[in-house]
Order: sequence, then structure tokens, then C-alpha cells
Amino acid sequence: MLRRLHHTQPAGFEFTPANLAWARGQMTKYPEGRQASAVIPLLFRAQEQEGWLSRPAIEYVADLLGMARIRALEVATFYFMFQLSPVGSVAHIQICGTTTCMICGAEELIAVCKELITANPHQVSADGKFSWEEVECLGACTNAPMAQIGKDNYEDLTPDVLRGLIARFSAGEVPRPGPQNGRYSSEAKGGPTALTEGTEDRAPFNAAVQRAVEIGDTIKRIDGTEVALRTPWQRQPEVDEAPDAPHPQPAADHPIDDTGIATETAPVKSAARMPDEKTAEGGTAQAEPGQQVNADGPKGKGDA
Ligand code: FES
Repeated sequence: MLRRLHHTQPAGFEFTPANLAWARGQMTKYPEGRQASAVIPLLFRAQEQEGWLSRPAIEYVADLLGMARIRALEVATFYFMFQLSPVGSVAHIQICGTTTCMICGAEELIAVCKELITANPHQVSADGKFSWEEVECLGACTNAPMAQIGKDNYEDLTPDVLRGLIARFSAGEVPRPGPQNGRYSSEAKGGPTALTEGTEDRAPFNAAVQRAVEIGDTIKRIDGTEVALRTPWQRQPEVDEAPDAPHPQPAADHPIDDTGIATETAPVKSAARMPDEKTAEGGTAQAEPGQQVNADGPKGKGDA
């Protein structure tokens, strides 16, 4: 599947002050000059703030980390977890379509999404509230079929249950994540057959659901003020101190890798030449079928 930037982009992007303070805190985890290592968490926080990753957001994160923008674009376009198209304002629904879920009814769930949201994935519904996509195994196979909605898993789904969830999200509710058929976690559907002691004293929900309910961030856009989502082993910098507080900075003159590229202003080598463009020797680079043309002229398929 091609992963390209969306054809319509916003004019700009900035972290909220609290998210910027959080991002600067993440950058302190890495040695001076290695702040590019924080690119994935910062890109993901940008996505959590906006719902998806726009080009201005990717470039903003690259600039913040002092890395070439193409490096951040490479990361954002590689990982499927980054949404490169706008998503629904309420929720983006990710239906697992891998083997276990497919056998247990994922195709019926996808049919519900096509009916209630849009005919095609990665499009926003007419009311702007929802979008959907099919994803690979989300690691909850014992509770198949399932979907990730926002940050949390909704498991043991049926088409009718999914319809009900979408209706409740649409009405402004956040249904409790986890198993939707009465199961506590991933025990046998007829009840646990092992580790049966103490089940009467257990918490009302399994640990994952309990945590999700406590944090309450299932479909929330993250602005950085959520205490439960701060980095627990670091003092959270106050928002007001963020601009002037000393933070490890990207080392502008030190490349982050062997390419020698330190900033976006680094000179860019032309990687390709049009077939009729003159070569350095004055000849004309003509591509044969199956050849690609680069700065050195026609190049065979097997050339390094
Ligand atoms: S196959 Fe769907 S969660 Fe694993």
C-alpha cells in the first residue's frame, strides 16, 4: 500500500505549550546531539494532538529535533501506526482483519464500517465524526474479532455490538473498552478453567480495561495536560518554564548519522536525471526498458 502525504494540508502545526514541554522532556532521555532518537514519540504525540500527521506536523517535529525533514518524513511514511490522512473527529476505528479475527467475523465488522462510515478506508464520514481502516493483528486474538478504537481495544465484537458502539460514540459517550460479551479478560467463554481462586475478589474490570477507564483517554485528543500520561520517571517541566529552561539541544553542526546531514539546509544531491538530460560527459542518458537513470547515466537492474 502506498503511504503518501494527504493532498490537502493545514497551513501549520505547533505543539500545545504542555505538549511542547512534554516533548522537551522526552528529548532529555538522549545524549546531546542525539535528540533525533525521540522522533517516534514526538510524531506520535503530534498525532495524538491532531488525530493525524500532517506534513507541517512532521516538519515541525523534525525542526524541533534538529534533524533533516526527509528523515522524519521517512519515519512517518514507513510506520502504518501514523495516520497520514485526516481521521474522524470522534474516532478512528481500526478493524483487525488478520487470521483469527477474519475467521471469527472481521469481514462482517468491516461491512458495518462500510455501511455506517464510508465505503472506503481512510476517508472521513459525511458527518466528519468517524473514519476506519483494516489493520493487521493487534495481539488480542483470544478475543477475536476485535477493533482498536482510539487508544483502546474493543473485543469479542459482533456486527450489532459494533453498530451499538458507533452509535454511542456518535452520541458523545465513551463505551467501556475490553470484552463486549461479558468476558472478564481472555478466559474460556464458558468461564475460567485454571487460576480460578480469588476471582470473587477481583477488580470490576481486567487490568487493561481498568487502566483505560481510569485514564479516560480512549478517544481524547491529547493536549499534554493529562497527568496520567506524563513520563513518570521525569519531573514534568512546567509549561511556563519551557521556553527558557536549559534542555539538551540538537547539535546543529553534528550529523545524526553517517550521511553527514545535520540540518534540512544540507545540500541535496540530485538522485535522478530525466532520460534526455545531458550527462557530465556531454552525452545523453538514454534509459533502456528495465533500467533506471541516475546521475551516472543508465543503470541496470542489478547494479548496486
Ligand atoms: S488476529 Fe485479530 S487480534 Fe490477532
